[in-house]
Amino acid sequence: MDDFLKGTNIYLIGMMGAGKSTVGQQLATHLGYRFADTDRVIEQVAQQPITDIFMTEGESAFRALETQVLAQLAPYTRMVIATGGGIVLERKNWSYLQHGVVVWLNPSVEVLFDRLKEDQTRPLLQAPDPQKVLETLFNQRRSLYAQADVTVAITAEDRPTDIVEQILTGIRAILRSPQPEPTPQD
Ligand code: S3P
Repeated sequence: MDDFLKGTNIYLIGMMGAGKSTVGQQLATHLGYRFADTDRVIEQVAQQPITDIFMTEGESAFRALETQVLAQLAPYTRMVIATGGGIVLERKNWSYLQHGVVVWLNPSVEVLFDRLKEDQTRPLLQAPDPQKVLETLFNQRRSLYAQADVTVAITAEDRPTDIVEQILTGIRAILRSPQPEPTPQD
């Protein structure tokens, strides 16, 4: 294992169903990093599943918890952190994400829908037309996801190991090239 990242955290962002948790765990193992998933930490803190948090306390309470969990994870080093699909919505969250390398896992909406059509754990998709919801969310969030340092386009055929390779190639490329100054977010 080489230490080209020098302990810098990697944050995986992207839509629900993008494979952040599966790929994140493999990436962490590959790098000798620890792995965390903000959704799972939120469930531990709240002592209830995400669907229940949405139902009883609403999305804004969930978003507040999400920011709190991200803030608690950010000071650690040598971590791969899989984030919830909506983490990019809150500007404050970027102040934490930007301390690490941010990687967008980006499958098409068709691939996402195929993976999520039977899913009952994503409250936002418990709607009459979940594909439409996915399309709308993707269109609303695309420009935020695009602020990632590295983007990995994912097809239905890609295996997690392929994606890990693509992430590492992408990160090595940005570490080699000079980075632009971050744009101040007021
Ligand atoms: C959400 C994505 C979910 C979870 C919650 C809301 C979203 O995480 O945080 O259901 O707003 O896209 P995953 O992206 O891990 O499914």
